[in-house]
Amino acid sequence: MAKTDITELSVEEARAELAALSKALNTANVAYHGKDNPDLSDANYDALKQRNAAIEDHFPTLVREDSPSKQVGAPVQDGFGKITHAQRMMSLGNAFTDEDVADFTQGIRKYLGLSNDRPLAFTAEPKIDGLSLSLRYENGTLIQAATRGDGTTGEDVLANALTIADVPKNLENAPEVIEVRGEVYMTHADFDALNARQVERGSKTFANPRNAAAGSLRQLDSEITKSRPLRFFAYAWGVLSDPLANTQHGAIARLKMLGFQTNPLTQRFENVVDLIKHYQQIEQQRAALGYDIDGVVYKVDDLAYQSRLGFRSTTPRWAIAHKFPAELAWTRLEAIDIQVGRTGALSPVARLSPVTVGGVVVSNATLHNEDYIEGRDNSGELIRGGRDIRVGDWVQIYRAGDVIPKIKDVDLSKRPSDSSPFEFPKICPECQSAALRDVGDAVRRCSGGLICPAQAVEKMKHFVSRGAFDIEGLGAKQVEMFYHDPTLPIREPADIFTLKTRDAQQLSKLKNRDGWGAKSADKLFAAIDERRNISFARVLYALGLRHVGAQSASLIARHYGSWAVFVDAMDAASDQVGDAWDRLMSIDGVGEIMASSLVTAFIQPGERASITRVTDELTIIDAEKPDTDSPVTGKVVVFSGTLEKMTRAEAKARAEALGAKVSGSVSAKTDILIAGPGAGSKAKKAAELDIETLDEDSWLALIEDL
Ligand code: IVH
Repeated sequence: MAKTDITELSVEEARAELAALSKALNTANVAYHGKDNPDLSDANYDALKQRNAAIEDHFPTLVREDSPSKQVGAPVQDGFGKITHAQRMMSLGNAFTDEDVADFTQGIRKYLGLSNDRPLAFTAEPKIDGLSLSLRYENGTLIQAATRGDGTTGEDVLANALTIADVPKNLENAPEVIEVRGEVYMTHADFDALNARQVERGSKTFANPRNAAAGSLRQLDSEITKSRPLRFFAYAWGVLSDPLANTQHGAIARLKMLGFQTNPLTQRFENVVDLIKHYQQIEQQRAALGYDIDGVVYKVDDLAYQSRLGFRSTTPRWAIAHKFPAELAWTRLEAIDIQVGRTGALSPVARLSPVTVGGVVVSNATLHNEDYIEGRDNSGELIRGGRDIRVGDWVQIYRAGDVIPKIKDVDLSKRPSDSSPFEFPKICPECQSAALRDVGDAVRRCSGGLICPAQAVEKMKHFVSRGAFDIEGLGAKQVEMFYHDPTLPIREPADIFTLKTRDAQQLSKLKNRDGWGAKSADKLFAAIDERRNISFARVLYALGLRHVGAQSASLIARHYGSWAVFVDAMDAASDQVGDAWDRLMSIDGVGEIMASSLVTAFIQPGERASITRVTDELTIIDAEKPDTDSPVTGKVVVFSGTLEKMTRAEAKARAEALGAKVSGSVSAKTDILIAGPGAGSKAKKAAELDIETLDEDSWLALIEDL
């Protein structure tokens, strides 16, 4: 039977065909996975799947709840339950040079107050290039498995984890509660065999073992995960009801005894020279290991030290990843495109002749900004010996881990004789407004603001993105479509929340459009309504103000508590002096640049009106103030004299983690002085001002167990 061209299908025909495809494919799945005789050949199966996917692509609102595309094939983002990690899953800071490693170990000595003649041991082990997984066992039984996600919330992949041979289902003689963390990965041999099978079936192949491992773990059908050869190395832990050991290497040995695979190249060393020797040895063995690694991780061995060192916002102070040098390749630069981002930044993107760099095909690379193209860095220093980059040039691409590929060098001997320097546009290619560069800013920006369609669309995409409003059924694709819609446009955030009313008031209803129906339109309106109640931090992050990321938005929200208080504070701080300004600047992580970006957004009449229009549609949930139980929250504390149990840096970090503000001098605003021996004039001044003064032990007793 000849198939109708998809673009010619009516909505009803498409709906009927999707129903038929779903039935046929789901029946085939049961036959296939039930190990009965598959009733469809692989080729026919894949042809049906492709047809199903193509129709869904064309009619996204017709995607069925039981769609075969949700059960096999590409991972479905929203299909997994969410798990909030009992202890955040952190990432690692990076070292690229031996010097970075020496700085890391010296920094730790300084933080802990350990002189160079005191021993300080580290473990060193390969950094596995896979994806991390947290396994929770209670009373010896595996009861939860979660991906890292954003570190706070991951996806529930227990059914899939249970199919991995390296993951023990039961533990003997383990702590009552134990979360074991490690990396899911795929060996090169298994990866090659999997891709060969995919080719045979006419299915999509994977770009590299890490993608294959991620795609396989994040399958809604655990039967598929089971058919994929995943492995697991344990290297860390989360919550524990009892400690595993006193040292990192002891803990790893214990994990091994409990039945986990641990990396055989893990070793303990007493000094930096040996760490780096081990790094070099691992680098030499890298190609022969049979699985991908992208560096070596060093961890402080003594777990008591680890716990004193603690964490920065996303990385531990006690560990670092020493990365292998980036992988390189040469190719031709075909074109330079300019993209306009949500803050108006004009970003040059290199379009390349596709080239494989470290196993991944690269056809785009970032060119940063116009100075970079011209051969200068942010501070005006020459890079690449001052050689500029031109269309038609041979360029050297490098890729390190996850980062976007970059251009490292250019080969002048291959430069075409008729080439000319790249002229960076001075007007926005999207809206023709002037594109300007502020003094000291490396980036040229479109001055069109919200009249620039590119900025507006990007802002809207950000507004609905995952960490922001995250509205089901309203993703980047839909936002783009609605932005250009003549009868039901969404051009600014408030338009999302008036969509339903506007739809009701007009003749051409959403439900009657191609690709939509009453059910899908209602579903979208319901999903939008559901987001009318939303947290302060999400609203602030969603606005997409320059320099205000998710983490800062959350800190600011916790500082001010309520949206109304925050808006008043922004007004009060608008002239960038005085108490309100000082208070804004006092927030941990808020510097002058971010503070200025915040207050500016609220002064500009257009932007302010747009913010008000959307917040009028919302009920914004107050943020919880930090650590209200802590006796030192919001207190101004000063350390003085010699501390004996910890260094100043550690004392300051701990106090700040509990919500205190640490100041360098005693004044009437000081709440507590922590005075060690030799506190001298500060202790005297505190006594004069009648300020509470504690010695180090009383201070520790006060904050103990917090
Ligand atoms: S330790 C608190 N050790 O690298 C630190 N991580 O870039 C926990 N990774 O998210 C991580 N091999 O997925 C650690 N031997 C290793 C690792 C490793 C790979 C991954 C892990 C982490 C990421 C950070």
